[in-house]
Amino acid sequence: MRLALLGCGTVGSEVVRLLHEQAADLAARIGAPLEIAGIAVRRLGRDRGDLPVDPTLFTTDALGLIKRDDVDVVVEVVGGIEPARGWLVEALRAGKSVVTANKALLAEDGAALHDAAAEGGGDLYYEASVAGAIPLLRPLRESLHGDRINRVTGIVNGTTNFILSAMDATGAGFAEALEEATELGYAEADPTADVEGFDAAAKAAILASLAFHTRVGAADVHREGITEVTAADVASAKAMGCTIKLLCIAARGADAAGRETVSVRVHPAMIPLGHPLASVGDAFNAVFVEAEAAGPLMFYGRGAGGAPTASAVLGDVVAVSRNRLAGVRSASESAYADLPVRPMGEALTRYHISLDVADRPGVLEAVAGVFARHDVSIATVRQGPAGGGATGRGEDADLVIVTHVAPDAALAATVRELRGLDIVRSVASVLRVEGGL
Ligand code: NDP
Ligand code: HSE
Repeated sequence: MRLALLGCGTVGSEVVRLLHEQAADLAARIGAPLEIAGIAVRRLGRDRGDLPVDPTLFTTDALGLIKRDDVDVVVEVVGGIEPARGWLVEALRAGKSVVTANKALLAEDGAALHDAAAEGGGDLYYEASVAGAIPLLRPLRESLHGDRINRVTGIVNGTTNFILSAMDATGAGFAEALEEATELGYAEADPTADVEGFDAAAKAAILASLAFHTRVGAADVHREGITEVTAADVASAKAMGCTIKLLCIAARGADAAGRETVSVRVHPAMIPLGHPLASVGDAFNAVFVEAEAAGPLMFYGRGAGGAPTASAVLGDVVAVSRNRLAGVRSASESAYADLPVRPMGEALTRYHISLDVADRPGVLEAVAGVFARHDVSIATVRQGPAGGGATGRGEDADLVIVTHVAPDAALAATVRELRGLDIVRSVASVLRVEGGL
């Protein structure tokens, strides 16, 4: 079985290392040896350490490598939309099998890849694209195909989880924690994709597509990153017995007419410390799947890094190689349900709002009136002196309000109106809340 490896960076170099170290076992599992036909990179002169591979295999001509007749499987660990899309469509149309870790491309234009795979008759596998080493997509697209999935909730970005965990545990600064995550090989080539939530949104789109048999793209996902999470938010969460995580939530629901829909969102949220996702630290990922017959399932493991991701890539390489030897291909994309994606405004969420207000009679009533006007029910209110110090009438006070579940649009409108009240000096923090508080 001859492989074209596209990319030899954090993930690709670990793929090469594992292919070398486990050559005999992999050959035994597949029924044929795996050989690297060539490795496409951007810079031929780059120092690649003591990578156990023949240096003459490197090329900058990715397309030429893909088109070679002696290539059976194309493994893409370059990333980005172009030229990766063109390469993979070319490979799939030519009947080659493709293994990719490229969630950005799958979420941007998965349809082009699936269509090309159907045309060419090869396999398209992408286990490494979501949650690194965790076997998650295969369970969704195979093991749970007899069930009905209602909700998927998870931490699917290692970099942001690393940053938020560091901010929470050690009070580390955002920039310092991001630098460390980048050094450890967790971050994307442009870490904006991580911290602004684009990477998690791409993964959410892939998960929702598989869970709900519906084509969901990156543009369908409501996305907020962690760049606006402040040390004050982290402290506020701690004071409530909570922590902040960047969550991906994909759920079935219904619109006003009772039509079945899905909603897919990525945003930071406060979760209670007793919530199983609260203890997921470092660059680990965890994903809850709630299925009708199976009940809740939890998947946990390393979500980023060269070796964990290479493990998932090689698992796919073994699967597609076996299929090729057997002359079969796996089931094609399942998108028959074609459910509409509901806008974020209609998603049901809860807010934690921290206000700096004037400390005088009637303030609570005025604030509560804003919530009432937007039909948002308040779950808890806590008032204390501003900044936690001693204060008297006429000075400021901190007001922390946690709501019951309401449409996100109503909650957002409530916050907008609160910002306009003269008794509200500032809205110190607004965070969504998931899990019971
Ligand atoms: P790197 O930036 O470390 O490596 C990218 C590789 O692609 C490099 O070898 C680079 O060549 C090569 N490359 C870039 N542009 C071209 C080009 N135009 N033609 C040929 N080769 C090119 O990325 P990662 O290994 O971190 O990530 C690769 C993919 O895996 C991405 O899609 C990423 O999202 C995904 N992924 C990454 C994870 C991680 O933890 N890092 C986890 C899960 C998925 P050169 O070496 O010469 O620079
Ligand atoms: N940058 C990604 C992350 C890599 O931090 O999760 C794994 O997909």
